[in-house]
Amino acid sequence: MVELRNLPAKKEDLDRYEIENNFQSWSYQPAQSPPRVVSAKGVRFTTEDGRERLDFSSCFVSHNIGHQDPRVVEAICEQARTLTSFAPSMSTRPRALLTKMLAEITPGDLSRSFISLGGAEANEAAIKIAHQYSGRRKIITRFKTYHGGTTSAMTLSAGDSRSWAQVPGGTDQIRVPQPYCYRCMFGRSYPSCDLQCVKYVDEVIELEGGGDTVAGIIFEPVTGANGIIVPPKEYFPELRRVCDKWGILMIADEVMTGFGRTGKWFAMNHWDVVPDIMTMAKGMTCGYLPLGATVVRKNIGDHFKDHFFSHGATYAGHALGCATALSVIPIYAEDRLVERSAELGEYLLEGAMALKEKHPSVGDVRGLGLFVGLELVKNKETREPLTPVNAKILPGSNPKLEVAKKLGEMGMMAMAANPVNVIALAPPLIVTKDEIDEGIAIMDKALEAADAYTV
Ligand SMILES: Cc1ncc(COP(=O)(O)O)c(C=O)c1O
Repeated sequence: MVELRNLPAKKEDLDRYEIENNFQSWSYQPAQSPPRVVSAKGVRFTTEDGRERLDFSSCFVSHNIGHQDPRVVEAICEQARTLTSFAPSMSTRPRALLTKMLAEITPGDLSRSFISLGGAEANEAAIKIAHQYSGRRKIITRFKTYHGGTTSAMTLSAGDSRSWAQVPGGTDQIRVPQPYCYRCMFGRSYPSCDLQCVKYVDEVIELEGGGDTVAGIIFEPVTGANGIIVPPKEYFPELRRVCDKWGILMIADEVMTGFGRTGKWFAMNHWDVVPDIMTMAKGMTCGYLPLGATVVRKNIGDHFKDHFFSHGATYAGHALGCATALSVIPIYAEDRLVERSAELGEYLLEGAMALKEKHPSVGDVRGLGLFVGLELVKNKETREPLTPVNAKILPGSNPKLEVAKKLGEMGMMAMAANPVNVIALAPPLIVTKDEIDEGIAIMDKALEAADAYTV
């Protein structure tokens, strides 16, 4: 065996380990190592070649407060010196404080949390809680959604191409359409559609056995990776009414949308709707350490006082992760980042709208807060998608990847490489107007690659 503390670590060694020893997520295993990031600060990061780049994706919408905030780094070091982690059967100060903090910032009487290590785990816990609380097996999910890479979360990610390789199991699933007005599955237009998408859920629940068999519905309040789908304002209040009618649980996956991303603390705050279970991760620790949480309303939390809570993990409530969240979350309030997301989100949306005017490949622009999507088409009139949904999974030409490549060459990272025809712009919430201008100017150039495919 090689000397473990002295593994060869020159550039070519690291490249080789990436190619031979690492599993790269959601892709054919690459023949070349991706560029190596050596440092990051604020909205920028630097790669090994010394090049500084603009992060307009906040690392998959997680680094909301920006990279390497010294306040958080210091809090992590302080906690690490005291206690990194301990068995979850014991209490730690960071876990106790974090569960109280989450009860304070989440809507309504959401008040008891299970602290895990990421978004998928938070959703796994939510689904298990819904089954255990209701005693029912069926969960409704929506097409074009992503809830995480673990088995249940992945199969609930209906219509996301990442779920196609998954063998379904566990939860009985019912799949329903999104409130995706640009491509309404009912062929209707808002507002004359009379919210067919909610009426459909109502009918499906009835046909599936109503409140006797259906435990809940899981959704992203603003759909993220599958295309920044912002619902009409009546959608969630109506969905709440339908769920209450049947006595089924609303599970809001705020993993991407939580913590100021859409211009409110949580996206559900836009519609004053309190879900029964809310999951979160990403912006809770902004990637400084991995953490997720599943927060339930008081009635559900109380249910488990005399019913066994059948879920857990060795690193549940990890002290160092919780201390990180305790340092990150107050920064949203102290630095007015939630308000900032609302204000600068409008500025970003205006910039993206101008790109739509200019580029024949931009069919639709939509967003909420600093969470803006540009949907690419071959033709604005027909709305023919620029790239077939399976383009990344089936190797071959994918015009959208050309846009992603151009963005990379010009030194900007956006959520552009996924197979969906939407490029998401989601810079850290500390972004300035000048940086937004810079990002829009880069997008302007990169979109030329998509324009070349329009007909
Ligand atoms: C809405 C949503 N839910 C869940 C997840 C999974 O989170 P994680 O990657 O932390 O497991 C993601 C990740 O992108 C997400 O966007």
